[in-house]
Amino acid sequence: MIGTPVYLETFGCQMNELDSELVRGQLTRVGYRMVEQPEDAQVILFNTCSVREHAESKAYSRIGLIGMRKAAGEKLLLGVIGCMAERDGVDMLRRFPQVDVMCGPGELDRLPALLDAARRSEAASQAERVALAGNRTRRSAVLSAVQDDLETLDLSRAFDPAIAGRLRHTAQVRITRGCNKFCTYCVVPNTRGAEVHRPPDSVVDECRQLADAGAIEVTLLGQTVNHYRYEHGAAITVQGREAPQVGPGLAAFRKAIPAGSRVTTFARLLQRIHDEVPAIQRLRFVTSYPRDFGRDVLEVMRDCPRICRYLHAPAQSGSDRILGFMNRGYTRGQYEAFVASVFEILPDATLAGDMIVGFPGETDADFEATCDLVRSLPFKNNFIFKYSPRPGTTAITRFPDDVPEEVKRWRNNQLLAVQTQTSERVHAAWVGRTVPVLIEEVFAEMPAPPHQASRVELKWNNRLATPTRRAMRGHTPGDLIVALDAPPNMQAESMIGRVVQVRLESASALLLNGKCIQTGAETVQTAD
Ligand code: SAH
Ligand code: SF4
Ligand code: F3S
Repeated sequence: MIGTPVYLETFGCQMNELDSELVRGQLTRVGYRMVEQPEDAQVILFNTCSVREHAESKAYSRIGLIGMRKAAGEKLLLGVIGCMAERDGVDMLRRFPQVDVMCGPGELDRLPALLDAARRSEAASQAERVALAGNRTRRSAVLSAVQDDLETLDLSRAFDPAIAGRLRHTAQVRITRGCNKFCTYCVVPNTRGAEVHRPPDSVVDECRQLADAGAIEVTLLGQTVNHYRYEHGAAITVQGREAPQVGPGLAAFRKAIPAGSRVTTFARLLQRIHDEVPAIQRLRFVTSYPRDFGRDVLEVMRDCPRICRYLHAPAQSGSDRILGFMNRGYTRGQYEAFVASVFEILPDATLAGDMIVGFPGETDADFEATCDLVRSLPFKNNFIFKYSPRPGTTAITRFPDDVPEEVKRWRNNQLLAVQTQTSERVHAAWVGRTVPVLIEEVFAEMPAPPHQASRVELKWNNRLATPTRRAMRGHTPGDLIVALDAPPNMQAESMIGRVVQVRLESASALLLNGKCIQTGAETVQTAD
């Protein structure tokens, strides 16, 4: 297997991005070689997402292409990993015989063994080539959590800022796997299983390892990240270390922690990482579930300067009726009260979220309520999705998908337009302030092509054109995207991964423009 080239493509959320990073590390360690182009690979892996039909169709079409290459005689091994593998189950093997290996997101530690079996023999049994949790994750979550080999996978990661394309010095750390919420539209509780919290010592150790390897921004990941809660003394320990632990019921978040019990809350975990790993300049977390967002978390954010005052807390809808159908567990009023407490304690916080349009039964009035929420609250951005009925969810069986596609599309565009106005307003309020920006990339703005130029002319023109602007892009602790000119006499590429001070000068809906006034220790001379 030494040197066998592997191509890995990732669909879906940050959780999947992180899984792909772990898979890359794991496969490299056992001798595979990762390649950038599918044409160069002998093993093709798709790390898939099931959250909307569109995400699945993209993956199916890639699977189809690989099928054609295999039919044409190429010797390839195709693995489908991630949420779609878990959701489709072994039925995928029947429908797509070109798939050799399937591995769910809860079984990724077994991937090298599956690939090995499939490579050794075409006759490898299904059991040797397929690792899915099935219903097991929910039925015996306690056991599977305690014997959690995924924990080893998380902890054994190799983070190398130089070779892993990690010049940005950003990293992600999972604190919770799975989800217990069961929003009626969502597949994630089925694909990722029950909520399991990692022991705080493991999380802090991992943050420390990442900081030692050069990470300056760490994002903690969880589907409902603020539900993190670890009860010490309750879980079985493995070789003296605490083990991952199945999350408590939601009721646990609605009452005070009993005196005498030793619990690491989300607020306490944030505080520990902040205090114990000071090399992390920016500590962030996604995704927050608006209900049960304790004041303790907001107060820790206020008191710890290196915790970013950024909240990604999806509202999903502005209509109480739809929020009820969605089983989100809060009303619009409760969401608004949550946002009010955020800005009371953290006046310079930034807020982002997700919205779904066209949920079954959504009337014009319900949709207008969503638009109104986006108009009235300071969302810096919202990801807007058209409702997509997903097999296995409550919504698909309980509510007919009765909002026509063109209405969904129209509402999507309308809400985007409302969000654009809100983003412009939120961004404009930052103009005039000086903010730290973590530089992520350098880009060149080319002159506008002449009107009516042919494709060939365009290509030719572009070759000859000199960029009108060489600029850098980065983000603030509040995740505001900032563009700035590369300082004169400085190698812009060398700025990637550095934090510079930027005075914000103008704003649009998408980003802020600013001038670099300080790069690290030095001050950049500016004309004014
Ligand atoms: N755990 C996170 C979100 C995970 S999925 C949370 O609860 O906020 C990311 C986003 O996809 C969701 O916030 C939701 O807006 C969207 N989404 C999930 N299922 C969907 C579906 N069936 N149709 C359309 N959008 C969906
Ligand atoms: Fe899905 Fe809801 Fe869980 Fe988010 S909180 S992952 S939307 S079930
Ligand atoms: Fe998709 Fe699974 Fe993430 S369904 S959004 S990849 S948790």
